[in-house]
Amino acid sequence: MLKRPKISVIGGGNVGSSCALWAASKELGDVVVLDIPQAEGMVKGKMLDLAQCSPIERFDCTITGTADYADIADSDVVVVTAGIPRKPGMSRDDLVETNVKIVKSVSQNIRQHAPESIVIVVSNPLDAMVYTAWKATGFPTHRIIGQAGCLDVARFKTFIAMETGFSVEDVNALLLGGHGDDMVPLPRYTNICGIPITQFISEQRLQELVDRAKVGGGEIVKLMGTSAYYAPASGVIQMVEAIVKDKKRILPCASYCQGEFGINGLFVGVPTLLGASGVEKVIQIDLDAQEKKLMDESAAHVQELVNLVQKLDPELK
Ligand code: NAI
Ligand code: 2OP
Repeated sequence: MLKRPKISVIGGGNVGSSCALWAASKELGDVVVLDIPQAEGMVKGKMLDLAQCSPIERFDCTITGTADYADIADSDVVVVTAGIPRKPGMSRDDLVETNVKIVKSVSQNIRQHAPESIVIVVSNPLDAMVYTAWKATGFPTHRIIGQAGCLDVARFKTFIAMETGFSVEDVNALLLGGHGDDMVPLPRYTNICGIPITQFISEQRLQELVDRAKVGGGEIVKLMGTSAYYAPASGVIQMVEAIVKDKKRILPCASYCQGEFGINGLFVGVPTLLGASGVEKVIQIDLDAQEKKLMDESAAHVQELVNLVQKLDPELK
Protein backbone atom coordinates (compact mmCIF):
# COMPACT_ATOMS: atom_id res chain seq x y z
CA MET A 1 0.00 0.00 0.00
CA LEU A 2 1.30 3.48 -0.84
CA LYS A 3 2.00 5.66 2.19
CA ARG A 4 2.53 9.37 2.59
CA PRO A 5 6.04 10.43 3.58
CA LYS A 6 6.38 11.06 7.32
CA ILE A 7 8.06 14.26 8.47
CA SER A 8 8.86 14.73 12.15
CA VAL A 9 10.00 17.97 13.72
CA ILE A 10 11.71 18.01 17.12
CA GLY A 11 11.01 21.28 18.94
CA GLY A 12 7.59 22.86 18.47
CA GLY A 13 8.61 26.47 19.06
CA ASN A 14 8.71 29.23 16.47
CA VAL A 15 10.78 27.46 13.80
CA GLY A 16 9.35 23.99 14.45
CA SER A 17 5.70 25.00 14.26
CA SER A 18 6.38 27.10 11.14
CA CYS A 19 7.99 24.02 9.55
CA ALA A 20 4.80 22.08 10.30
CA LEU A 21 2.70 24.82 8.72
CA TRP A 22 4.72 24.86 5.47
CA ALA A 23 4.98 21.06 5.29
CA ALA A 24 1.23 20.58 5.78
CA SER A 25 0.17 23.39 3.45
CA LYS A 26 2.40 21.95 0.71
CA GLU A 27 1.04 18.44 1.40
CA LEU A 28 4.54 16.99 1.73
CA GLY A 29 3.44 14.22 4.08
CA ASP A 30 2.13 13.39 7.54
CA VAL A 31 3.58 15.69 10.18
CA VAL A 32 4.60 15.00 13.79
CA VAL A 33 5.92 17.75 16.05
CA LEU A 34 7.54 16.71 19.33
CA ASP A 35 8.46 18.90 22.29
CA ILE A 36 9.49 18.31 25.91
CA PRO A 37 6.87 16.99 28.39
CA GLN A 38 6.55 20.47 29.98
CA ALA A 39 5.46 21.82 26.57
CA GLU A 40 3.20 18.90 25.61
CA GLY A 41 -0.04 20.91 25.94
CA MET A 42 1.43 23.74 23.87
CA VAL A 43 2.56 21.48 21.03
CA LYS A 44 -0.64 19.41 21.02
CA GLY A 45 -2.71 22.61 20.96
CA LYS A 46 -0.69 24.18 18.13
CA MET A 47 -0.92 21.06 15.98
CA LEU A 48 -4.68 20.72 16.58
CA ASP A 49 -5.03 24.37 15.60
CA LEU A 50 -2.98 23.70 12.43
CA ALA A 51 -5.06 20.61 11.57
CA GLN A 52 -8.16 22.79 11.72
CA CYS A 53 -6.78 24.91 8.84
CA SER A 54 -6.97 21.90 6.54
CA PRO A 55 -10.60 22.27 5.39
CA ILE A 56 -9.92 25.90 4.49
CA GLU A 57 -6.43 25.50 3.02
CA ARG A 58 -7.36 22.12 1.54
CA PHE A 59 -4.55 19.80 2.60
CA ASP A 60 -4.86 16.15 3.54
CA CYS A 61 -2.38 14.81 6.05
CA THR A 62 -2.26 13.81 9.68
CA ILE A 63 -0.78 16.35 12.09
CA THR A 64 0.30 15.21 15.54
CA GLY A 65 1.65 17.15 18.51
CA THR A 66 3.41 14.95 21.05
CA ALA A 67 6.02 14.55 23.77
CA ASP A 68 6.42 10.82 23.06
CA TYR A 69 9.28 9.70 20.80
CA ALA A 70 7.35 6.56 19.85
CA ASP A 71 5.33 8.87 17.57
CA ILE A 72 8.34 9.60 15.32
CA ALA A 73 8.79 5.92 14.41
CA ASP A 74 9.23 5.30 10.66
CA SER A 75 9.87 8.96 9.89
CA ASP A 76 11.45 9.59 6.51
CA VAL A 77 12.80 12.98 7.56
CA VAL A 78 13.40 14.37 11.06
CA VAL A 79 14.00 18.11 11.47
CA VAL A 80 15.79 19.22 14.65
CA THR A 81 14.78 22.69 15.86
CA ALA A 82 15.07 21.95 19.59
CA GLY A 83 17.16 24.41 21.54
CA ILE A 84 17.33 28.00 22.63
CA PRO A 85 17.37 30.84 20.09
CA ARG A 86 19.51 33.95 20.51
CA LYS A 87 18.38 37.18 22.13
CA PRO A 88 19.60 40.66 21.19
CA GLY A 89 23.35 41.01 21.78
CA MET A 90 24.00 37.26 21.52
CA SER A 91 25.83 35.56 18.68
CA ARG A 92 24.79 32.11 17.46
CA ASP A 93 27.98 30.78 19.08
CA ASP A 94 26.77 31.89 22.54
CA LEU A 95 24.15 29.11 22.35
CA VAL A 96 26.58 26.21 22.10
CA GLU A 97 26.80 25.13 25.75
CA THR A 98 23.03 24.79 26.16
CA ASN A 99 22.20 23.47 22.71
CA VAL A 100 24.91 20.81 22.51
CA LYS A 101 23.23 18.98 25.44
CA ILE A 102 19.77 19.32 23.88
CA VAL A 103 20.84 18.27 20.38
CA LYS A 104 22.84 15.33 21.74
CA SER A 105 19.88 13.92 23.68
CA VAL A 106 17.44 14.59 20.82
CA SER A 107 19.82 12.82 18.38
CA GLN A 108 20.11 9.77 20.63
CA ASN A 109 16.32 9.55 20.63
CA ILE A 110 16.23 9.84 16.84
CA ARG A 111 18.78 7.03 16.58
CA GLN A 112 16.55 4.85 18.74
CA HIS A 113 13.13 5.71 17.30
CA ALA A 114 13.74 6.69 13.65
CA PRO A 115 16.98 4.90 12.74
CA GLU A 116 16.42 5.08 8.96
CA SER A 117 15.52 8.76 8.82
CA ILE A 118 17.31 11.63 7.10
CA VAL A 119 18.05 14.33 9.70
CA ILE A 120 17.97 18.05 8.95
CA VAL A 121 19.48 20.10 11.76
CA VAL A 122 18.41 23.70 12.35
CA SER A 123 19.45 24.41 15.97
CA ASN A 124 22.30 26.89 16.41
CA PRO A 125 25.21 27.27 16.23
CA LEU A 126 24.23 25.37 13.12
CA ASP A 127 27.47 23.90 11.85
CA ALA A 128 28.47 22.63 15.31
CA MET A 129 25.00 21.20 15.95
CA VAL A 130 25.10 19.26 12.65
CA TYR A 131 28.38 17.76 13.81
CA THR A 132 26.80 16.95 17.20
CA ALA A 133 23.83 15.22 15.56
CA TRP A 134 26.18 13.21 13.33
CA LYS A 135 28.23 11.97 16.29
CA ALA A 136 25.23 11.29 18.54
CA THR A 137 23.14 9.46 15.91
CA GLY A 138 26.06 7.61 14.30
CA PHE A 139 24.16 7.98 11.00
CA PRO A 140 26.06 7.96 7.69
CA THR A 141 27.00 11.47 6.55
CA HIS A 142 24.56 11.47 3.62
CA ARG A 143 21.68 11.31 6.15
CA ILE A 144 22.82 14.31 8.24
CA ILE A 145 22.35 17.79 6.74
CA GLY A 146 22.20 21.31 8.15
CA GLN A 147 19.83 24.05 7.07
CA ALA A 148 21.36 27.48 6.83
CA GLY A 149 22.29 28.21 3.23
CA CYS A 150 18.70 28.02 1.92
CA LEU A 151 17.79 30.76 4.39
CA ASP A 152 20.91 32.86 3.93
CA VAL A 153 20.67 32.78 0.14
CA ALA A 154 16.94 33.55 0.30
CA ARG A 155 17.78 36.65 2.32
CA PHE A 156 20.38 37.71 -0.28
CA LYS A 157 17.93 37.09 -3.14
CA THR A 158 15.21 39.05 -1.34
CA PHE A 159 17.49 42.07 -0.95
CA ILE A 160 18.47 41.88 -4.64
CA ALA A 161 14.81 41.71 -5.71
CA MET A 162 13.95 44.64 -3.43
CA GLU A 163 16.83 46.64 -4.90
CA THR A 164 16.19 45.91 -8.59
CA GLY A 165 12.41 45.53 -8.64
CA PHE A 166 12.69 42.24 -10.57
CA SER A 167 10.82 39.11 -9.53
CA VAL A 168 12.54 37.07 -6.81
CA GLU A 169 11.90 34.09 -9.07
CA ASP A 170 14.44 35.44 -11.57
CA VAL A 171 17.20 36.04 -9.04
CA ASN A 172 19.82 33.26 -8.97
CA ALA A 173 22.47 33.25 -6.28
CA LEU A 174 24.82 30.95 -4.45
CA LEU A 175 26.34 31.08 -1.00
CA LEU A 176 28.93 28.97 0.79
CA GLY A 177 30.47 28.58 4.24
CA GLY A 178 29.26 28.36 7.81
CA HIS A 179 26.06 29.90 9.22
CA GLY A 180 27.89 32.79 10.87
CA ASP A 181 28.51 36.37 9.96
CA ASP A 182 31.49 35.05 7.96
CA MET A 183 29.25 33.13 5.52
CA VAL A 184 30.37 33.55 1.90
CA PRO A 185 27.82 34.96 -0.59
CA LEU A 186 29.24 34.79 -4.12
CA PRO A 187 28.43 37.91 -6.21
CA ARG A 188 30.27 36.29 -9.15
CA TYR A 189 27.66 33.51 -9.26
CA THR A 190 24.70 35.91 -8.91
CA ASN A 191 22.51 36.80 -11.88
CA ILE A 192 19.04 37.87 -12.89
CA CYS A 193 17.63 35.32 -15.31
CA GLY A 194 21.17 34.52 -16.46
CA ILE A 195 22.15 38.19 -16.94
CA PRO A 196 25.14 39.15 -14.73
CA ILE A 197 23.97 41.08 -11.68
CA THR A 198 26.58 43.80 -12.31
CA GLN A 199 24.45 44.94 -15.26
CA PHE A 200 21.81 46.09 -12.76
CA ILE A 201 23.63 46.89 -9.50
CA SER A 202 26.97 48.63 -8.95
CA GLU A 203 29.72 46.58 -7.30
CA GLN A 204 29.64 48.84 -4.26
CA ARG A 205 25.88 48.49 -3.78
CA LEU A 206 26.11 44.74 -4.32
CA GLN A 207 28.71 44.54 -1.56
CA GLU A 208 26.31 46.39 0.74
CA LEU A 209 23.61 43.78 -0.01
CA VAL A 210 26.13 40.98 0.62
CA ASP A 211 26.96 42.58 3.97
CA ARG A 212 23.28 42.91 4.87
CA ALA A 213 22.66 39.24 4.03
CA LYS A 214 25.58 38.19 6.23
CA VAL A 215 24.03 39.84 9.27
CA GLY A 216 20.44 39.21 8.15
CA GLY A 217 19.68 37.01 11.15
CA GLY A 218 20.96 39.64 13.57
CA GLU A 219 18.88 42.36 11.88
CA ILE A 220 15.72 40.41 12.72
CA VAL A 221 16.84 39.56 16.26
CA LYS A 222 17.34 43.29 16.90
CA LEU A 223 13.89 44.12 15.55
CA MET A 224 11.83 41.48 17.33
CA GLY A 225 13.91 40.34 20.27
CA THR A 226 14.19 36.72 19.14
CA SER A 227 15.36 34.97 16.01
CA ALA A 228 13.56 34.64 12.71
CA TYR A 229 11.27 31.70 11.97
CA TYR A 230 9.17 32.05 8.81
CA ALA A 231 12.11 32.13 6.37
CA PRO A 232 14.21 29.61 8.35
CA ALA A 233 11.29 27.17 8.26
CA SER A 234 10.73 27.88 4.58
CA GLY A 235 14.40 26.99 3.96
CA VAL A 236 13.95 23.72 5.86
CA ILE A 237 10.88 22.80 3.86
CA GLN A 238 12.68 23.51 0.56
CA MET A 239 15.12 20.78 1.63
CA VAL A 240 12.39 18.43 2.88
CA GLU A 241 10.55 18.78 -0.42
CA ALA A 242 13.72 18.01 -2.41
CA ILE A 243 14.10 14.81 -0.37
CA VAL A 244 10.53 13.50 -0.20
CA LYS A 245 9.92 14.24 -3.89
CA ASP A 246 13.42 13.07 -4.90
CA LYS A 247 13.79 16.31 -6.84
CA LYS A 248 17.60 16.26 -7.23
CA ARG A 249 17.78 19.96 -6.41
CA ILE A 250 21.08 21.73 -5.90
CA LEU A 251 20.69 23.68 -2.66
CA PRO A 252 23.22 25.30 -0.35
CA CYS A 253 23.27 22.97 2.67
CA ALA A 254 25.68 22.19 5.50
CA SER A 255 26.99 18.88 4.16
CA TYR A 256 29.93 16.70 5.06
CA CYS A 257 33.01 17.55 3.02
CA GLN A 258 35.68 15.00 2.20
CA GLY A 259 38.20 17.09 0.33
CA GLU A 260 35.70 19.25 -1.57
CA PHE A 261 36.71 22.92 -1.48
CA GLY A 262 39.87 21.76 0.35
CA ILE A 263 37.77 20.93 3.45
CA ASN A 264 38.09 17.58 5.15
CA GLY A 265 35.90 16.01 7.82
CA LEU A 266 33.64 19.03 8.47
CA PHE A 267 30.00 19.93 7.79
CA VAL A 268 30.09 23.29 5.98
CA GLY A 269 27.69 25.08 3.64
CA VAL A 270 28.31 23.83 0.09
CA PRO A 271 26.17 23.33 -3.05
CA THR A 272 24.50 19.98 -2.41
CA LEU A 273 22.51 17.65 -4.65
CA LEU A 274 19.51 16.65 -2.53
CA GLY A 275 17.30 13.68 -3.34
CA ALA A 276 15.60 10.66 -1.80
CA SER A 277 18.76 9.41 -0.11
CA GLY A 278 19.65 12.78 1.37
CA VAL A 279 22.96 14.27 0.29
CA GLU A 280 23.62 12.63 -3.07
CA LYS A 281 26.63 14.74 -4.01
CA VAL A 282 28.58 17.82 -3.00
CA ILE A 283 28.92 19.95 -6.12
CA GLN A 284 32.35 21.52 -6.59
CA ILE A 285 32.66 24.94 -8.18
CA ASP A 286 35.70 27.06 -9.02
CA LEU A 287 36.56 29.75 -6.50
CA ASP A 288 38.93 32.64 -7.16
CA ALA A 289 41.66 33.47 -4.65
CA GLN A 290 39.51 35.89 -2.61
CA GLU A 291 36.50 33.54 -2.49
CA LYS A 292 38.78 30.66 -1.45
CA LYS A 293 40.27 32.81 1.32
CA LEU A 294 36.80 33.65 2.66
CA MET A 295 35.74 29.99 2.47
CA ASP A 296 38.88 28.92 4.34
CA GLU A 297 38.21 31.50 7.06
CA SER A 298 34.60 30.37 7.41
CA ALA A 299 35.63 26.70 7.59
CA ALA A 300 38.26 27.56 10.22
CA HIS A 301 35.53 29.14 12.34
CA VAL A 302 33.38 26.00 11.97
CA GLN A 303 36.39 23.91 13.05
CA GLU A 304 36.80 26.08 16.17
CA LEU A 305 33.16 25.47 17.09
CA VAL A 306 33.56 21.73 16.58
CA ASN A 307 36.65 21.82 18.83
CA LEU A 308 34.55 23.58 21.47
CA VAL A 309 31.82 20.91 21.21
CA GLN A 310 34.45 18.20 21.67
CA LYS A 311 35.84 20.04 24.69
CA LEU A 312 32.40 20.46 26.24
CA ASP A 313 31.54 16.80 25.66
CA PRO A 314 34.44 14.45 24.94
CA GLU A 315 31.93 11.68 24.03
CA LEU A 316 31.27 13.66 20.84
CA LYS A 317 34.86 13.29 19.58
P1 NAI B 1 11.90 28.44 20.29
O1 NAI B 1 12.37 28.75 21.67
O2 NAI B 1 10.71 29.14 19.77
O3 NAI B 1 11.62 26.86 20.16
C1 NAI B 1 12.51 25.90 20.61
C2 NAI B 1 11.68 24.73 21.10
O4 NAI B 1 12.57 23.66 21.42
C3 NAI B 1 10.87 25.04 22.36
O5 NAI B 1 9.49 24.78 22.12
C4 NAI B 1 11.47 24.11 23.41
O6 NAI B 1 10.53 23.65 24.36
C5 NAI B 1 11.98 22.97 22.50
N1 NAI B 1 12.96 22.14 23.18
C6 NAI B 1 13.95 22.48 24.05
N2 NAI B 1 14.62 21.38 24.44
C7 NAI B 1 14.05 20.33 23.82
C8 NAI B 1 14.29 18.94 23.84
N3 NAI B 1 15.28 18.40 24.58
N4 NAI B 1 13.51 18.15 23.08
C9 NAI B 1 12.51 18.65 22.32
N5 NAI B 1 12.24 19.96 22.27
C10 NAI B 1 13.00 20.79 23.01
O7 NAI B 1 13.16 28.67 19.34
P2 NAI B 1 13.14 28.83 17.74
O8 NAI B 1 13.04 30.26 17.40
O9 NAI B 1 12.17 27.86 17.17
O10 NAI B 1 14.64 28.37 17.37
C11 NAI B 1 15.03 27.02 17.54
C12 NAI B 1 16.52 26.87 17.21
O11 NAI B 1 16.72 27.09 15.81
C13 NAI B 1 17.43 27.86 17.93
O12 NAI B 1 18.62 27.22 18.32
C14 NAI B 1 17.71 28.90 16.87
O13 NAI B 1 18.92 29.60 17.08
C15 NAI B 1 17.78 28.03 15.64
N6 NAI B 1 17.59 28.72 14.37
C16 NAI B 1 18.36 28.31 13.32
C17 NAI B 1 18.21 28.86 12.08
C18 NAI B 1 19.00 28.33 10.94
O14 NAI B 1 18.89 28.88 9.84
N7 NAI B 1 19.77 27.28 11.09
C19 NAI B 1 17.28 29.96 11.86
C20 NAI B 1 16.46 30.28 13.01
C21 NAI B 1 16.64 29.69 14.23
C1 2OP C 1 18.99 33.28 11.68
O1 2OP C 1 19.88 33.36 10.82
C2 2OP C 1 19.31 33.12 14.09
O2 2OP C 1 20.20 31.49 12.65
C3 2OP C 1 19.15 32.37 12.84
O3 2OP C 1 17.94 33.96 11.63
